[in-house]
Amino acid sequence: MSSGEFENSAEAVGGPGAEKPVQPPSQLLILAIDDDSGMLGFYKSVMSGEGVRLETSMDPTLGLELVESLNPDLTLLDLTMPGIDGMEVLQRIRQRDPEARVVMVTGNYSIETAVVAIQAGATDYVCKPVSPEKLRQLVSETRKLVDLDQRGEALEQQLIGVFNLEGMIGRSPRMLEVFDLVRRVAPHLRTALITGETGTGKELVARALHNLSPRAGRRCAVFNCSALVDTLAESQLFGHRKGAFTGAVSDQVGMFEWANGGTVFLDEVGDLSAAAQSKLHRVLENGEVQKLGFPQATRVDVQVIAATSRDLKVEMKSNRFRPDLWYRLNMIQIHLPPLRERREDVVLLARHFLAHYAAEYGKELKRISRRAESALLAYSWPGNVRELKNVIARGCMLARNRMFDMEDLPEEVRNQSSAAFALPTSLEQAEKRAVTHALAKTKNKALAARTLRISRTRLYRLMEKYGLAADSIDDEKSKEAASD
Ligand SMILES: Nc1ncnc2c1ncn2[C@@H]1O[C@H](COP(=O)(O)OP(=O)(O)OP(=O)(O)O)[C@@H](O)[C@H]1O
Ligand SMILES: [Mg+2]
Repeated sequence: MSSGEFENSAEAVGGPGAEKPVQPPSQLLILAIDDDSGMLGFYKSVMSGEGVRLETSMDPTLGLELVESLNPDLTLLDLTMPGIDGMEVLQRIRQRDPEARVVMVTGNYSIETAVVAIQAGATDYVCKPVSPEKLRQLVSETRKLVDLDQRGEALEQQLIGVFNLEGMIGRSPRMLEVFDLVRRVAPHLRTALITGETGTGKELVARALHNLSPRAGRRCAVFNCSALVDTLAESQLFGHRKGAFTGAVSDQVGMFEWANGGTVFLDEVGDLSAAAQSKLHRVLENGEVQKLGFPQATRVDVQVIAATSRDLKVEMKSNRFRPDLWYRLNMIQIHLPPLRERREDVVLLARHFLAHYAAEYGKELKRISRRAESALLAYSWPGNVRELKNVIARGCMLARNRMFDMEDLPEEVRNQSSAAFALPTSLEQAEKRAVTHALAKTKNKALAARTLRISRTRLYRLMEKYGLAADSIDDEKSKEAASD
């Protein structure tokens, strides 16, 4: 995109003040797994008309598949069945979803199995024959818990509303600081520089600044400085007169003139040519636009927001960026930290995207499983929020069940988390893993030693012991870091 106008609406679902209508109590979904058809018939007769949708299976393997696909509010599970034993079914259900509610039903009560079942995560353990009263009691308890869950979800939506600035979601202290800065800067905006890695939300911040500024109702031109060759970029930004260069067959109004009275957002400002940088400096300094092929300058009054994923100080040192322009732009700098440095935002963002894409793809996806959330938390997100958004979008598109689970995540996310969460089998393995991890993360021995809270000598000994190569580790930096 090289030019365009921001739509003023926030793209968030359930933004601040978005009141949700009160939901009527929803139907409970109960699954009964029992090889005795008489028992299943009994369940049906008691629970029909109680606001319950009852699904049944006489086969435990099929029953397990139903648990996966339906994600029931409650599973009534017979303990002794041919094929897979009820206890194993219980374990498999709980492995997949540690919050699943499963009531074990048995013909032969024993304290020992009751204890084992409860330890394995069963919600309750009841004996056959089950009285209709007991069954109704289980239904009403489940309803209360489901109501609580729903209230929790509603609160979560409200939370998303609170931690939302113009469609930007975040609850980490660093993002709340960004929100605060945006709110304080926007009313007095002249120029601002937004920095941060790719996908951290720079364009969203620019959008928020414009929307919260006094010029919200005016035009906002978006220009990607890396998208065009130099002369074309110059003519699009500052305009040209007919005949200014080969191919300039008519006069062109530049973006600054077009957005006069409003905002110009320059994305990847570090990619501007030297000539364009000098012209931009003139706009910022005197409000004057110099058209190509026209001697007289035009006056404009625009607020300029620039963004970059490069380090402009480095660009400046190697003479690729004008220092005077940098000082001008950098008067207000808003830095967006990478997602790996604000992990508190990961789950909130993931749930926000889940609600959005579940609605978009018409899926009944209500929540993300605990282990999938752990995997999301363990992953390093090199593509930042954009990558997280794409991962959830893809998962929602492909998901077959009511819960977003591990299988809905791409391999790289699953793999990294399994490496991080697998339990080491010995103390030595744990030690080796900790050292490897610290070195990989810091790429610096002194910092790694500090992270591990051990001396550098001890770190060297451990590296030697586990044959960890020092090639990629920066020794010079280590010295600096150690001396500071
Ligand atoms: N805090 C956030 N809350 C909600 N969505 C976000 C947030 N941050 C980023 N996004 C979403 O992630 C995607 C990438 O954000 P954006 O385009 O603003 O990043 P960027 O920093 O401009 O990236 P690039 O440098 O690659 O241009 C967008 O779809 C955006 O809506
Ligand atoms: Mg961008």
